[in-house]
Amino acid sequence: MESRHYPVMSNEIVDLLRDVPPGWMIDGTIGLGGHALRVLRELPHLRVLGMDMDSDSLKEAGRRLDRWKDRVVLVQANYTTCLDSTHIRDREVTAVLVDPGISSWQLQDAGRGFSHNLEGPLDMRKDRGSGITAADVINTWSLERLEVVFREYGEVRRAGELAKRVIETRLFTPIRTTTELKQVVEKVFGSRFPRGVVHPAARVFQALRICVNRELDGVETFILRLPDVLKSGGRILFLSFHSIEDRVVKQTLRRLQAEGRVTCLKPFPMLPQETEVLENPPSHSARLRVAEVA
Ligand SMILES: C[S@@+](CC[C@H](N)C(=O)[O-])C[C@H]1O[C@@H](n2cnc3c(N)ncnc32)[C@H](O)[C@@H]1O
Repeated sequence: MESRHYPVMSNEIVDLLRDVPPGWMIDGTIGLGGHALRVLRELPHLRVLGMDMDSDSLKEAGRRLDRWKDRVVLVQANYTTCLDSTHIRDREVTAVLVDPGISSWQLQDAGRGFSHNLEGPLDMRKDRGSGITAADVINTWSLERLEVVFREYGEVRRAGELAKRVIETRLFTPIRTTTELKQVVEKVFGSRFPRGVVHPAARVFQALRICVNRELDGVETFILRLPDVLKSGGRILFLSFHSIEDRVVKQTLRRLQAEGRVTCLKPFPMLPQETEVLENPPSHSARLRVAEVA
């Protein structure tokens, strides 16, 4: 049986795309194709150019979207660096959707090392064909750099203390697995937490994932170029799941608005409905920002 997949705020996203001009929607982070599937089913005026850094997710998206293959093109790519590719240049693009981070499918794959609850190698690369792993970061970066990663990307309290503990541990033996890293975190923060309190390893793992995949690199430049790529009336939809990324998106869209190149359709980010959060708790931190190209 296929596991249930919840594309976050998909009702809002489909509604916001209903009256964009006919053309291609770039789904920069197609994942398992949940949003794309709804767009293909419900919005016949749109085609989907789907991208993902992760070849496994892309394969799975291809399988799920097979029925719609006449209106879909899938490409393994980092959306932040895709705008000069021929895939884009040759198409009339009227919408862009970005829903970054990782999917629960990736999170639940122990071999990827994204979850502190599953034993696996400390990898965390979305594109397993390139780049450094979380183990490389943990075992080779300096105390100062580790502290910055934990604090800036995970808002980890006592980031300096944790970085020190990592350095002390790896002097004796490298930290190679998710469980070994979680144990180091627990030496600093303890291992028992009241119900409802998120385990501090969650923030540490998030910080490493953002660092390994350079998740914030290029987001601003990508958004700044979108008014040159999209047709007038086209829409930019960006979902963020942490405050640092949402700040970058907000400030960049406001800058484009001040230059008269886009109109932000809402003054504040849209949030998921309570019913969605009840059904899919990880959606609670989603923030959706939307702008229309002038
Ligand atoms: C939250 S999931 C997307 C779910 C998708 N919207 C759906 O409905 O199935 C995030 C996906 O984006 C991919 N991803 C994250 N950052 C990316 C980037 N910079 N470029 C391309 N893909 C990226 C991840 O590999 C993952 O598959």
